[in-house]
Amino acid sequence: MSPYRALLKTKAYLGGKWVEAASGDHFPVVDPARQATVAEVANCGAVDAERAVEAGQAAFQTWSRTTAEHRAMVLQQWHDRLLEHQDSLAALITLEMGKPLAEARGEVAYAASFLRWFAEEARRVYGEIIPASSNDKRLFVLKQPVGVTAAITPWNFPVAMIARKVAPALAAGCSMIVKPAEDTPLSALAMAHLFEGLDAPAGVFNVVPTQDPKEVGKVLTTHSAIRKISFTGSTATGKKLMKQASDSVKRVSLELGGNAPFIVFADADMKAAAEGAMVSKYRNGGQTCVCTNRIFLESGSEQAFLDEFLPLVKQLKVGPGMEEGNQVGPLINEDACKKVETLVGDAVRQGAEVVHGGGRHELGGTYFQPSVLRNANPSMRISQEEIFGPVSVLSTFKSEGEVIQLANDTPYGLAAYFYSRDTARVWRVAEQLEYGMVGVNTGLVSTAQAPFGGVKESGIGREGSHHGIDEYLEIKYVCLGGLEP
Ligand code: SIN
Repeated sequence: MSPYRALLKTKAYLGGKWVEAASGDHFPVVDPARQATVAEVANCGAVDAERAVEAGQAAFQTWSRTTAEHRAMVLQQWHDRLLEHQDSLAALITLEMGKPLAEARGEVAYAASFLRWFAEEARRVYGEIIPASSNDKRLFVLKQPVGVTAAITPWNFPVAMIARKVAPALAAGCSMIVKPAEDTPLSALAMAHLFEGLDAPAGVFNVVPTQDPKEVGKVLTTHSAIRKISFTGSTATGKKLMKQASDSVKRVSLELGGNAPFIVFADADMKAAAEGAMVSKYRNGGQTCVCTNRIFLESGSEQAFLDEFLPLVKQLKVGPGMEEGNQVGPLINEDACKKVETLVGDAVRQGAEVVHGGGRHELGGTYFQPSVLRNANPSMRISQEEIFGPVSVLSTFKSEGEVIQLANDTPYGLAAYFYSRDTARVWRVAEQLEYGMVGVNTGLVSTAQAPFGGVKESGIGREGSHHGIDEYLEIKYVCLGGLEP
């Protein structure tokens, strides 16, 4: 039996029950490695989303009154279950989105780390006592859960991005409705399966799969009972959701697109820089919002960098994620593949040189060759748009000032990376990069205890870290008067 069978659920999870969509419709889930349908999932619509909101409202009444200790226990148990089923859940992730199994196992561990982190943070939601201006008053600050919340999650980390949102929500005492990406509903439903049976009221966690994200998204962003929406995905969609959510003045957290610069100064350790670029560029086949998009090399160091970097790119093993040892799987779908192809074509027409790869992989389907281009310039689309594919784009710079200006010359501001061994420069550059996250001498910044999020058009709010739970808490000020002086 396939390892993921026990976790395979195809109905929606609403109010603690597995249900078909009210319409009775289904939609196919496609394995990008084989272009084959692997399951038919309930295709929910507005009616089902409204049912989920009602279930969330009912659950909130009891869940918000449980102790932090209890909520911590539930999250810790969910964490344990994820790790018990790490291999099966990883196989399901790989099946529906294509990433290599080793990375999928890593994603499950990453997801579990958010459940554990926020199990711990649940116990640390402290209020405040503020010194009053008169002796007959006492001033307090209480922190209370915002209410029913919703999450719209992406396909590139179909388990971890749910965990990063639902863990702080539940820790704070909120209920949540998740609308997973239409490419990857199975991982979300497996999360619900692993949640089932824990000591939490029905409706605390709901999953509404749909092929019509607009219809369900509309309910989640406009329903007056939902007090907060968290979204990870493109900047264009994030802006629309933010507008929709504004009518009922919902709180929003947006983790949107990026255009990460990766700067290598001449004083850097070139081997370390090449290894860091591999991680930050080719993780998940280049399909993460924090993936390196533009590599800037200080004049005179391009060859030294390429000498270290190219052999690593050439060694990457491309193939189905399900086959152990493959390091780059297929891109999520044909549209994604076409977009990468178009960006490379535009860059080459404008003078970029293909050093390696540069097109679709001989395996066919949506496989794209790990590629390296050089002589890029800022006017190319590939320098301006999120590539979301395994293509490195190199250009050179002459001075620190010039590269900071180039790096910041984008509406995005999610992650940035740079390599240097000069301590004074490390501080200067880190402070001047207009990004929410900066990796210095590392290509990987993501971890549960650090604040993940962007500035400018890359988003609002932070996930993970002790800040992550604040997104799900309201501050209430209580002024107690009439006390005897
Ligand atoms: C993302 O691509 O949205 C998340 C990546 C990460 O958490 O490292």
